[in-house]
Amino acid sequence: MEKMGVAVIGLGNRGQLLLKTVLKHFKDFQVVALSDLYEDRLQKGIAACEKYGEYQPLYADTNYKNFISKPEIDCVIVPSSWDSHIEICIDSMNAGKYVASEVGGAYNIEQCFDLVKTYERTGVPCMMLENCCYGKDEMLVLNMVKKGLFGEILHCEGGYHHDLRDEVALGHEQRHYRLDNYMHRNGEVYPTHELGPIAKVLNINRGNRMIMLTAMASKSGAVNQWIKDNKGADYENANFHFAMGDVITTCIKCAHGETIVLTHDTTIPRAYSRGGLVQGTKGTWSEDCDGILIDGMVEGASYDHKFLPMKDFYEEHMHPLWKEYKKNGLVGGHGGMDGLCLAAFFDAVRNKTEVPIDAYDMASWMAITCLSEDSIAMGSMPVPIPDFTYGKWIKRKPYVRSKYCLEEVCYDCFDEEEK
Ligand SMILES: NC(=O)c1ccc[n+]([C@@H]2O[C@H](COP(=O)([O-])OP(=O)(O)OC[C@H]3O[C@@H](n4cnc5c(N)ncnc54)[C@H](O)[C@@H]3O)[C@@H](O)[C@H]2O)c1
Repeated sequence: MEKMGVAVIGLGNRGQLLLKTVLKHFKDFQVVALSDLYEDRLQKGIAACEKYGEYQPLYADTNYKNFISKPEIDCVIVPSSWDSHIEICIDSMNAGKYVASEVGGAYNIEQCFDLVKTYERTGVPCMMLENCCYGKDEMLVLNMVKKGLFGEILHCEGGYHHDLRDEVALGHEQRHYRLDNYMHRNGEVYPTHELGPIAKVLNINRGNRMIMLTAMASKSGAVNQWIKDNKGADYENANFHFAMGDVITTCIKCAHGETIVLTHDTTIPRAYSRGGLVQGTKGTWSEDCDGILIDGMVEGASYDHKFLPMKDFYEEHMHPLWKEYKKNGLVGGHGGMDGLCLAAFFDAVRNKTEVPIDAYDMASWMAITCLSEDSIAMGSMPVPIPDFTYGKWIKRKPYVRSKYCLEEVCYDCFDEEEK
């Protein structure tokens, strides 16, 4: 079997996990190139190839530019730090390689336009690996939305509620980029885990688009508290005034009137949640209540104001991709959605088709970060969200119909059992 060549650029925690997933589970792909700025992480990646793939990559370099154009590379995966995603994606597209970037936000609008312009000039697909678009419950809700069960969608919410105080506070010790961002920036720095699934529910960039936002930041204090309690008052940054508010709230308005609220909340003790909420004229999904309420689905339910538990919906409304996936065995981290998201990218690489989360999606989702910073800096002033499709959102070229499609649930792509 002719294997397709993969390069992995960025070998921190996430890069090592994705690398292992590729090596163990995608046997028609071979990791041929590795890069990280740190030599020890590069060596760890090489060791993983030897252990799980029983081979050495052809190229291992702290500067990916030294191998990016090599013919053995068919596609590139980019689990690097936030500030490098777009540059590496642009270099990959310019070299003619399919590219998939890990998630994060943009630092300025210009780089988002550069991403889209490079895609349009080269025609090389660029995907954002937003694994939450392939989460079990997110896909179940997408399936129910597409069936019309929630009626017309009016409002969605989501959040990145994840206590990362140790990752932030120990950032310099652990060579992690998050600390410097929190020291100097104040905005919704990690919007896509929740915005990605919401954007697909609201048909963003295909008949709809985000037009403006306003953002507000709380004061900061929780990282200082954690440092004092856990590392002592003399530890680095114990008294530093972090620019990043502990809770950032961003409100977005869409062209067809829908509203979206995003919350970034990563430095306060609490349980993990992505706080998903989808509300339509006929019903609501609430992740934090672990339930769905649809008018008339259960007699009297809406009068009791009670959600029915998610488990009651799996039998009838589970997305066929998840039915198939559960039958075949879950792959990769985060309850299996990492494996599905990689599978979606590799499916496009194999078939030489467009990707399900494309450069327009990536640019518009990442732009929320720098636009929220602008809004906060101006006292929550409304900020326009550019149209990264240059008007194409009104009438886009048809999307690729496949099992991994996020615009439609393509039942005909599945076996009878999964439908
Ligand atoms: N989708 C998910 O569920 C999920 C989970 C965790 C992290 N992530 C994302 O994965 C990415 C990496 O996160 P992490 O926690 O592994 O960070 P990390 O800091 O541990 O690793 C990032 C690595 O990228 C390397 N890097 C940066 N610029 C580079 C360049 N130009 N060339 C080569 N290597 C470069 C750094 O040296 C570092 O080792 C981030 O975008 C993060 O948001 C996603």
